[in-house]
Amino acid sequence: MGKDVIIALDFDSREKTLAFLDRFTGEKPFVKIGMELYYAEGPSIVREIKARGHKIFLDLKLHDIPNTVKKAMAVLSGLGVDMLNLHAAGTRAMMEAALEGVAHPAGGSSAVRPLLIAVTQLTSTSQERMESDLLIERPLDQVVLHYAKCAAQAGLAGVVCSPLEAEGVHRACGDGFVTVTPGVRFADGDVGDQVRVTTPARAKELGSDYIVVGRPVTQAENPVAAYRRCVEEFVG
Ligand code: C5P
Repeated sequence: MGKDVIIALDFDSREKTLAFLDRFTGEKPFVKIGMELYYAEGPSIVREIKARGHKIFLDLKLHDIPNTVKKAMAVLSGLGVDMLNLHAAGTRAMMEAALEGVAHPAGGSSAVRPLLIAVTQLTSTSQERMESDLLIERPLDQVVLHYAKCAAQAGLAGVVCSPLEAEGVHRACGDGFVTVTPGVRFADGDVGDQVRVTTPARAKELGSDYIVVGRPVTQAENPVAAYRRCVEEFVG
């Protein structure tokens, strides 16, 4: 699996996003478009960034009945993105339907077939909340591994998880099963609202395949230098 750094484009407008990307002249980083930017600008922002030559992880975390997710995934795959995701909690049937959608992109064949990955438990969900609100009375790490195994059985390419869970996921689902890990901070940087964080170098040691980095790059005085530092530490 080719290791890479994915920059989270957590901006609320096309203008801010393109001004940020314009700073990168020598390279075309892999980027993540989440709900905020996608709901603000719609599919045109995806096409525009794709046309500039970036790989895109479209992070919309779908969760609905299988037929609806299948059709939505076909539409999103038609945008030519490289990675898409959904909630494993939608069940194996939903994940299998999603894969069918990805295999049949709207508008005919797309140049790339996106990797479909699953969110296990959000890193914002605590053990207490999982028990009190979701009535799941098992240790959180066991739940994450169970969801990862369900995703693998459904045929998905991998999961979003904490870098601290990457080793366990690889042990349970195989080294080829992709781990995409947010919660990355430089050793000398601000943690922000992330709780369990690791450095890019530590994420590499733990076996993450892709790290997702937002504020340490987007809010840096010199984003290009911060991005290069991530690549240097994580990819080498
Ligand atoms: O700014 P920061 O590096 O914390 O950004 C991390 C990105 O990864 C954000 O876009 C956030 O929504 C996303 N993410 C996360 N934790 C998850 C799933 C996604 O931080 N479990």
